[in-house]
Amino acid sequence: MKVTVDGIEIDLPAGTSAIDAVFSAGGDVPYFCAHKYLSPVGACRMCLVESGSPRKNPDGSFVMEGEGDAASPKIFWFPKPMASCTMQATEGMHIRSAKTSEVVAKAQAGMMEFTLLNHPLDCPTCDKGGACELQDRAFEYGYGASRFGFDRRHAEKHYPLSDFVILDQERCIHCKRCVRYFEEVPGQEVLDFIERGGHTFIDTQEGGLPTGFSGNITDICPVGALLDNVARFRGRNWEYDHTPTTCTLCPVGCSITVDARNGRLERIVAGENRDVNEAWICDAGRFGHVFASEERLTTPLIRDEDGQLVPATWDAAIDAMKRGFSGMRTADVALYLGADSTLEEGAALEALAAATGARSVDHSPRYEVSVTAPQATLTDVATADAVVVIGADLGEEAPVLELRILEMLRGGLIPPEFAHGTAIADLRLVERPARRPERLAVIGQESRLWAHAGHRVSANGKGALARLTHPDTDELRAVLSLLEGAERPVIILGADVLNGASGSFSANLSDLASRTGAKVIAIPAAANSRGLGALNLVPRTGGLPLSRAQEAPAAFISRLDPGVRAAGFTVVHDTHLTTTARLADVVLPAITNYEKRGTVQNLEGRLLPLHPAAIQSGESADLIRTLTALAEALGVKAPARGLRGAQALLADRVALNLSDLPARGALHTFRQTFAGPAAPHTPTLWTERMHARRLTWVDRIEELVQNDWQLPVAPAAPPARAGGDD
Ligand code: SF4
Ligand code: SF4
Ligand code: FES
Repeated sequence: MKVTVDGIEIDLPAGTSAIDAVFSAGGDVPYFCAHKYLSPVGACRMCLVESGSPRKNPDGSFVMEGEGDAASPKIFWFPKPMASCTMQATEGMHIRSAKTSEVVAKAQAGMMEFTLLNHPLDCPTCDKGGACELQDRAFEYGYGASRFGFDRRHAEKHYPLSDFVILDQERCIHCKRCVRYFEEVPGQEVLDFIERGGHTFIDTQEGGLPTGFSGNITDICPVGALLDNVARFRGRNWEYDHTPTTCTLCPVGCSITVDARNGRLERIVAGENRDVNEAWICDAGRFGHVFASEERLTTPLIRDEDGQLVPATWDAAIDAMKRGFSGMRTADVALYLGADSTLEEGAALEALAAATGARSVDHSPRYEVSVTAPQATLTDVATADAVVVIGADLGEEAPVLELRILEMLRGGLIPPEFAHGTAIADLRLVERPARRPERLAVIGQESRLWAHAGHRVSANGKGALARLTHPDTDELRAVLSLLEGAERPVIILGADVLNGASGSFSANLSDLASRTGAKVIAIPAAANSRGLGALNLVPRTGGLPLSRAQEAPAAFISRLDPGVRAAGFTVVHDTHLTTTARLADVVLPAITNYEKRGTVQNLEGRLLPLHPAAIQSGESADLIRTLTALAEALGVKAPARGLRGAQALLADRVALNLSDLPARGALHTFRQTFAGPAAPHTPTLWTERMHARRLTWVDRIEELVQNDWQLPVAPAAPPARAGGDD
């Protein structure tokens, strides 16, 4: 399809909206209500363009203008500018944006004036300053001066919709993005316009917003009407260091941007990754970041003669470890790491285990079984024609996977991708979309997804897979025939199935997958359990899993809190003084995943990059550098002294080349994954330390004064860390 935009002819697929035609041609159109992943509604009227199309004669030929060779189809222009977000571009259409049309420029300036009529213009004090689409577009497309000398409408200010979201009704421009988001994405009709005309305002039904995915409306509100209560008044947009990275609180691996200011993590917003989270993240991923800047360990601690843990230098900590490990065989030191550690950290630990001969090696949490069935991606889930969820509580295990399932129920329409990125207006999306609950079956305990499913089977997770393979009830027979009748079925397995799964489980699963042609997602226990399982980080023959750490003669435990210490000398590497850290002989300060560079593998096998945000954490170190200190104390050569060394180990041992991983990540299948005995795992996404401590300002100032508060300054260059880099 040929479309001419501001005199430039471009080729576009049929069905493209006029707004996307302009962006594809490299032009610009201001818009507020259109959103890449929501239905177009034409509410704000800001995206005006002039448009015209050729017309045909009754004999099928085009109405022409001009003579001879100069003749061309005559373009019949609409008499007025049209909203481009709800208009389909058609073959031969001509479009003029404000760049070439005075009429459009004037209409947009008038529309901007109208939009600002009831906006309170508290821009200089609004939290959204610097990230407000209205403010930016008013500068670009407005008249530049106000003709309104009267007092504006006043409405409710700072009105909490929930603990996490604050509404300022005066700032709302009625774009309806938040209302459409709740209806169309999590499928919860909880927010709507109330009253009519000039009195319209946004509010919730009694009870406020449900938690789960509510924070996404603070990203998509184009003005400062909906604000993140955790980050509110913590900083201005231009003061933040923005770091695009990956959330590792669960195995989905959503793209996020971490905003830090003065060395503190103040805000997390959703990033876009079409293959993983599209543009959404869960509330735990968005609001549960408080631990990254609260009560952090910033120096090593060693136990003194009185039995107290006291601050020390890294050198003193290495000396303390040398003394503690002296006379002990290096192979007796158990090595344990958290399963959200990066692949690079895992490779460094595995190589150290090989160097020391340690048999007690483990990552946690993880399941005892490794699944060998055709792997489904998140896009497979969204575009499936049947999904069966067995033994999973997605809200606790992988929240955004739930959104991708809901996307499947409303037709699995993945927005097209153009030269300018994801389509701005996908005309196939509609408000209040029809859903197909009969395509979803949930087997197991009752969960949030239950309400959306056409087939619900209460069952004990463990036996559910076997019972589905040989169904013994009508309900289960219906689920099996749903799978058998589908062309693109997906099976999702959660903790209730994967905990304690045995050999017959794998056989049942392969049988079911091959009979129905289903692809499978087995939700891993943590952000990188899947990748770390491929690095042989499980107990060797005769070795002890983490659940038996207290029997180990000595142990090094990184970012895990089993609540016990080893029988002998114990070193803990963590971000906070956990129960386990309090029991240790030496505590080494760790960095959080928000501060790391490295790679993790998500639930669909996609390798995703981590980038370090500008968070101050004193002398904290990642696991690779901490292992160099441990190696020195054990008297062995550290196999990797930095990220590049660890990536070389990955290339050597598992043929993984991470040198040019794309920002959207890349799918990867490891040749082998290792499993060993594991303790049952109860997924709890939102842990206690992720909650904000609700300090009043008075408490906060008192706390700062007690801690010899210094005026915050921009972070200095990071201090040298133990072990150096290579
Ligand atoms: S609150 Fe924000 S997102 Fe919702 S309608 Fe108003 S301006 Fe739009
Ligand atoms: S779904 Fe998982 S990865 Fe995504 S934001 Fe939530 S916790 Fe993070
Ligand atoms: S009318 Fe709002 S973006 Fe088109």
